[in-house]
This record gives sequence, structure tokens and C-alpha cells, in this order.
Amino acid sequence: MPASNPQIKLVVADTLSAAKAVAQIIADQVKVKPNAVLGLPTGSTPIPVYEELVKMYQAGLIDFEQVRTFNLDEYVGLKPDHPESYAAFMAKHLFSKINIPTCQTHLLDGLTPNPESECKAYEDRLVKEGGMDLLFLGIGENGHLGFNEPFSQVGEGTRMVMLTVETRLANSRFFSAIDQVPTHALTMGLRTILSSKSIVLLAIGKKKAKAIKMCLEGEIKDEWPCSVLKGHEDVLVVCDGDAASGM
Ligand code: PGA
Repeated sequence: MPASNPQIKLVVADTLSAAKAVAQIIADQVKVKPNAVLGLPTGSTPIPVYEELVKMYQAGLIDFEQVRTFNLDEYVGLKPDHPESYAAFMAKHLFSKINIPTCQTHLLDGLTPNPESECKAYEDRLVKEGGMDLLFLGIGENGHLGFNEPFSQVGEGTRMVMLTVETRLANSRFFSAIDQVPTHALTMGLRTILSSKSIVLLAIGKKKAKAIKMCLEGEIKDEWPCSVLKGHEDVLVVCDGDAASGM
């Protein structure tokens, strides 16, 4: 593996411009292919991107009628109407505010009695829809992509995973206490992520600096799941100055 991958492009901008740049990339994808398949994340980072997309939709600059979406992950054990489920997050921040038909928005079912068949069916649905044209990613402080925690393998597909204590701690800010944060999740695998035709990753804040460095520099390492992006030929990383400060 080369010391760094010249194919990963990096853009550094202020926080709002970074979010706007990612929203524009999504809008451009939908303009080129009105029925694009988008992979979408949750978390704090994508919120300003979704706000920007809603503004563009309201201004008539983007039409989601034919767009299809697949979310990266979902907590195990939360009902879709639980306020911290990713189904509820997507409804609140994006889907209820744009004209995408619900049947075209795909999320993993965190309440499934059979995670293995749920994950297989999700992968099958993604293949049937033609695969992702553009996957929008956030990144964890520990370098996770979706819920692919450190030591996830590049050959893994969508599956049930156990969350690390770090991730549960980081996400406990959304719950009343850490013991309320689910211990498991369903997530697209690194193989699924790398199957997207193109990828845009947004990182904001100093806490992401080490993960961004590991994403862009050095070799692919199991401890840093984000480093697998070096093996993809169409990745754009968009950061604010703080997230880029480790390089
Ligand atoms: P954040 O989460 O956007 O809330 O920082 C990103 C992630 O954990 O992937």
C-alpha cells in the first residue's frame, strides 16, 4: 500500500462552507441522475448538510421524487419512532421536509428478530436498485465509518455489530444516560461502503483530526476503519480546519 493515496481528494473550508459543499455535491449527483441511489449518514455532522438540501429543495433547485436512499446504519432495539433511532432522525432532518416517497427510503430494521436475514435482504435490495451512486459519510473519533468499529474487516458486508464503549460514550450525549445507548447496531460493512461508485466524507472539529489523518495518510490499518478509503478511487474528504489540523 502506498504511503498516501493521491486519489483521495481533500477540501478544507470553514464549517458552513464545508456543509454547503457537500450539499452541492449531492445536488449535482441528483441533477446528473434524477433517480440516483444515495447512501446517507446520521449524527451531528450531516445536520447542516440536510438543512442545506432542504433549503435547495424549497428553492426548487433539487427534486427528490425519483431519488432512492439507503442509510448506513441503525441501532438494534430502538423502535423507528424512538427519538434517537436513525429512522426518526432521517424523518426529522430530511425525509419529512422533501418530496422523496417513503418507499424509496431504505433503513435497516433495528427491531428485526433475525438480523442476519435483515442484513442480507438490505444488501440484496441495494444491489437490485443498482448500488450506490454516491455515499455521504461522517467519521467517528475512532475512525469508524457507519458502525464499522476498529478491527472491522474490509471484506465484511452489512451485519450486526457490537458498539465500542468509546462510541457509546460519544453517542450518550443524545441519551439520558450511557446505559440507554444501545449496545448493538446493524451497519453497512466496509465492503458495502467501498461498493459505492463515489464517496464524500465530511468531518468537522478537532476531535476528528486523528481519524482524518489516518484516513488520508499512511497505510490501511485494521485499527482505523477509515483508512480503507485509500482503496477506493473516487473519494472526496471535506473538512474544516480543525478536522484537518492533524496533517
Ligand atoms: P457525528 O458522528 O457526526 O455525530 O460526530 C459521526 C460518526 O460517528 O460517524
